[in-house]
Amino acid sequence: MSGKIKAVANQHSSKDYSKAEIFGKSQAMLVKKYHKSFPTYHPTELKKLNHLAEYLGVDAFYVKDESSRFGLNAFKGLGGSYCIGKYIGKKCGIPEEQLTYEKLKSEEVRKETEQLTFVTATDGNHGRGIAWTAQELGIKAVVYMPNGSAEERLENIKKLGAQASITNLNYDDTVRFAAQCEKEKGWVLVQDTAWKGYEKIPTWIMQGYTTMALEAIAQLQKERPTHIFLQAGVGAMAGALAGFFADYYQKAKPTIVIVEPNKADCIYRTAGADDGKIHIITGDMNTIMAGLACGEPCTVGWEMLSRYADYFVSMPDAIAAKGMRVLGNPLPGDERVISGESGAATTGFVTELMTNESLEYLRRTLGINEESKVLCFSTEGDTDKKNYRDIVWNGTYSSF
Ligand SMILES: Cc1ncc(COP(=O)(O)O)c(C=O)c1O
Repeated sequence: MSGKIKAVANQHSSKDYSKAEIFGKSQAMLVKKYHKSFPTYHPTELKKLNHLAEYLGVDAFYVKDESSRFGLNAFKGLGGSYCIGKYIGKKCGIPEEQLTYEKLKSEEVRKETEQLTFVTATDGNHGRGIAWTAQELGIKAVVYMPNGSAEERLENIKKLGAQASITNLNYDDTVRFAAQCEKEKGWVLVQDTAWKGYEKIPTWIMQGYTTMALEAIAQLQKERPTHIFLQAGVGAMAGALAGFFADYYQKAKPTIVIVEPNKADCIYRTAGADDGKIHIITGDMNTIMAGLACGEPCTVGWEMLSRYADYFVSMPDAIAAKGMRVLGNPLPGDERVISGESGAATTGFVTELMTNESLEYLRRTLGINEESKVLCFSTEGDTDKKNYRDIVWNGTYSSF
């Protein structure tokens, strides 16, 4: 295994839950109402893996399976569809309560939006969500991808009618390139990460993600997870969900653990440095977790994580690969979850944490034991089928 598991605790986690409200339950209910208006909306399944829980020595193990989200094989369409809806709503003066799929497709709105072009950078899943939303609403989309992106992911975006291409830049430079296009061509940048001066649209995208947390709460019924594991690329998804759960549970907030690949652990490094600054990673981030291969934290996400996340973990690719195998080859009686490299990162981490004897200190630090109830989000299915087979069938991948 190249590299090892590293973890740091958040020294400044906050008990002031008021800052989480923008991603809280009330906002999430508005977002979900909007998503529900899409004809292909249905809640994704929350799978309870009882036998895995027993095997790992925890009381319960839940995994929210996002592979059936809007037919896109990943959760990301939640953010793209909500930010585009909000953008058009603002442009056309439609109040949030009236923002629906049907309204956005109406003749009067189409007249206002047919000249628009949305542009974004993506490692696959976000761009697919933007392309899908644009196609649904009859708007143009241009999507740029970093070098090394999977052809299958590119083709899936093109199939949705977007103009898409792979650049020779890494993820963060591809984002800068898309931002430059907005300036030069008058397109609208819909990026799933924020930086100083570009925060409104990413905040809408993050709010979009809260639908999956709100669904999970309903599916858990009254059961409260004790530990929630969230994978991070730029940390927008993890930040939004950490905010949601902080607002929802307040003082009873579960322990929130953020998981990143060690080749792109910008959030772990930012937390570890603990100097009030954001720390970035440059160059190629050669990890199988393509969706998490981001070197610059999202400012809005980090604001939430710095308050409401409890631990930050950096781990090698082999652990995500193990998570894919564990979910794809369940113990008898458990349901199967097809989970891609980024989707399975958290399940892989929990499996390693609970079964590797040398991690006893970390289990004790995180307070995870036979009474714990674990919640993970499998944020994607097999979005790169060739890689999925290479890893799950052959046990091989490029960063071995
Ligand atoms: C499948 C998957 N999971 C998790 C993430 C992480 O989201 P974020 O970049 O907001 O941290 C991504 C990002 O693209 C993703 O594609």
